[in-house]
Amino acid sequence: MKGPKTVYDGLPAPTQAHKSSSSCATFKKALLVPVIVAACLTGRHYLSSNAAPWSSGFLDDTIGRDLRAKEPLCPQSVPLVPEKNAQMWARLGSSYGTKEFVTKAVEYLGGAVRVRTESFDKMDVVGKDPRWEVFGPFHNYLLETFPLVHSTLALTKVNTYGLVYEWKGSDSSLKPLLLAAHQDTVPVDMTTLDQWEHPPWSGYFDGERVWGRGSSDDKSGLIGIMTTLETLISNEWTPTRGIVLAFGFDEEASGLHGASALGKYLEKTYGENAFSMLVDEGGEFSQQKGAVIAVPGIGEKGYLDVRVEVTSPGGHSSIPPAHTSIGILASLLVQYETNPYKVSLNRTTPVYGFVQCLAAHAPDVPASLKKKIRKSLGSNKALKEAEKELFQDPTIKNLAATTQAIDLIDGGVKTNALPERAWAVVNHRIATESSVDATKAHDTALLKELAAKFNLSYTAFGETLTSEPAYGTLTLSDAWGAALEPAPISPTDADAAAYKILSGTIKATYNAHRSLKDDGIVVAPGIMTGNTDTRYYWKLTENIFRYNHHNQGSGKALSGVHTVNESIPVDAFVEMIRFFTTLILNVDESKAL
Ligand SMILES: *[C@@H]1O[C@H](CO)[C@@H](O)[C@H](O)[C@H]1NC(C)=O
Ligand SMILES: *[C@@H]1O[C@H](CO)[C@@H](O)[C@H](O)[C@H]1NC(C)=O
Ligand SMILES: *[C@@H]1O[C@H](CO)[C@@H](O)[C@H](O)[C@H]1NC(C)=O
Ligand SMILES: [Zn+2]
Repeated sequence: MKGPKTVYDGLPAPTQAHKSSSSCATFKKALLVPVIVAACLTGRHYLSSNAAPWSSGFLDDTIGRDLRAKEPLCPQSVPLVPEKNAQMWARLGSSYGTKEFVTKAVEYLGGAVRVRTESFDKMDVVGKDPRWEVFGPFHNYLLETFPLVHSTLALTKVNTYGLVYEWKGSDSSLKPLLLAAHQDTVPVDMTTLDQWEHPPWSGYFDGERVWGRGSSDDKSGLIGIMTTLETLISNEWTPTRGIVLAFGFDEEASGLHGASALGKYLEKTYGENAFSMLVDEGGEFSQQKGAVIAVPGIGEKGYLDVRVEVTSPGGHSSIPPAHTSIGILASLLVQYETNPYKVSLNRTTPVYGFVQCLAAHAPDVPASLKKKIRKSLGSNKALKEAEKELFQDPTIKNLAATTQAIDLIDGGVKTNALPERAWAVVNHRIATESSVDATKAHDTALLKELAAKFNLSYTAFGETLTSEPAYGTLTLSDAWGAALEPAPISPTDADAAAYKILSGTIKATYNAHRSLKDDGIVVAPGIMTGNTDTRYYWKLTENIFRYNHHNQGSGKALSGVHTVNESIPVDAFVEMIRFFTTLILNVDESKAL
C-alpha cells in the first residue's frame, strides 16, 4: 500500500488531565523561566501525559499573550485540546481509528460523490435553469445519511438549494460558530472520462482513497462537518455556543445564486458581526522547507477584469493608416507588460506573516535569509533585502502583488477590412493592501500617454478623460461588473482569540492523529489567490478562516482537484473529521471568543 502511513489511533484516555493542567498553570507566574515555557510551548506535557494542560481559558488571560510575545517572529499557539470534554474527545479520537468508523466515513463520502452536483458558469436563476435540480437528490441524501443532524438542528433552505443548519447553544449570549462548505463541484470534462482511474461519480473506495468528483473539493468538507455533528449528537453532546452551517451550491461558479443568497439571509437573521468565527474551505497543510506548515487563509486577493477597447475608422486595407485598432491595442498591451505593478513586501501583508513563519520554523530556509527576515522586523533596509531574495520565488512575489494577465483578445473580421474595433481583457488579482479603485486608477494612468499619442478620446471606468475630436477611442471598463475588493484581513495578532483557537486546534488534531509526542506542525497565515463563498460573508464576522485540515502532501499530484482522478485518502478524510470535532469542542469551551 503506497501513500502515507496510516495512524488511526487517537489518544488514550486522559488520566492525568487535571494534574497536568495544574502543573502548567503553576508555571504561569514563572514564565520568565525559559525552559519551562519551552516545555509548555512544545505541548510535551499534554502529550506525554495524554492530558490537557491548556484549556481555552488559558488563552483568555494575559499570560497567554506574554507567552506568545516571547517569540516575536511567528509566535505559535500551543496545541489546544478540549478540557471540559476531554474524555469524550479522547474517546471519539480512538473511535475514529477503528475500522468500523472508517468504513462508515467511506460510505458517507462515497455516497455523496455518487450524487452528481455540478455547477456551471452563467446558469440561469433557480427555478428556470433545470440544472439546479440535481441538488434535490443531494438534500435527500443528506437527510437519509445524517438523521440525527436533521432531527436535532433546524434546517432552512435559502434560494431553494442553499442549506443553513442551526444548532442553538444553551447560552444564547455567546456568538455562534459558523462552518461553511459547498455542495457543488466543478463539472467533469466528458472527453476525459476514459482517463479516470475510477469513474468520476463512482465514489469508489480502493482500500486507501475515495475516488470521484467532489471527493476532495468540497464534499470532504461538507460530509466531514455532517459526520462530526452526527457523531457528537449520537454521543449526547449538546453545544453551549450555537453552531450554524452554511452550504452553498455554486461556489465553483462564483456563488452568485448560493452563497450570495446565504450571506444575505445570515446577515438578516443573525446580524452583522454575529458569529465568533467562520471556517470555510481553503488553505491546507503540507511540507515546506523542512517543516509541516498549515496555512489558513486569513484574506483573499481582490479581483478585476479590465476590458481595454480601441475603436478607429474602418476602410480598405489597401490604403491603411500607420496604426490600426489592432496595432494600437497591441501597443497598449505591451505597455502593460513592460510596466508590471510595483510590488513590495509590506509589513501589513499576510505574505510577510507567512515568511516570518518560514524564517522562524522552517529548517531549510537559508540562515542568511532567516537573519534578514528577523532583522526586517525593525529595519527597512533588511526588509528590502529580504524582499529581494524572497521575490525570486514567483509564488511569493505574486501573492504579495497586484498581478496582471492578458487573458482574452479579439478584433478584426476580414483581411481586406481595417478593424474598427479591437479589445482585450486584462485579469487582475488585487494585492490585499490595495483596492479596486487603486487598480482602476493605475491602469487608467498607465495608458494615458498612449491614448494621446494615438489621438484617441479616452474614457476609463465611466469617466471621460479626453473628449476632443480624435482619431479613435480608447475605453477601459470592468469587463463583466465582477470586481471584488480584497477581503478584510482576519486578525492574527496576540489578542486574536479566534486565530489562536484555530491554530491550537490544528496542532492538537495533527499531533493526535499521528500520536506525536512533540508538536509537529507550524501554523502560518496565508492568503487565497482565488475566492471562496466567504466573499459573501465578510460582514458576519471579522474572524474568517479558509482552511481545510487536509494533507496536501499526501497527494497533491494525486488529488485531482478540478481535473481527472479527483480522490482523497481516507486517512486524510478521517483527519478532517478529527479536526472538526476538535474545533467544535474547543470553540464551545472558549470564553475568549
Ligand atoms: C489518472 O489515473 C490513471 C490510472 O492511474 C492514469 O493512467 C492517468 O494518467 C491519470 N490521469 C491523469 C491526468 O493524471
Ligand atoms: C507598500 O510599501 C511601500 C513602501 O515600502 C509603499 O510605497 C506602497 O504603497 C505599499 N503598498 C501598499 C499596497 O500599501
Ligand atoms: C486627432 O484626430 C482628429 C480627428 O481626426 C483631428 O481633427 C485632430 O487634428 C487629431 N489630433 C492630432 C493631434 O493629431
Ligand atoms: Zn471548493
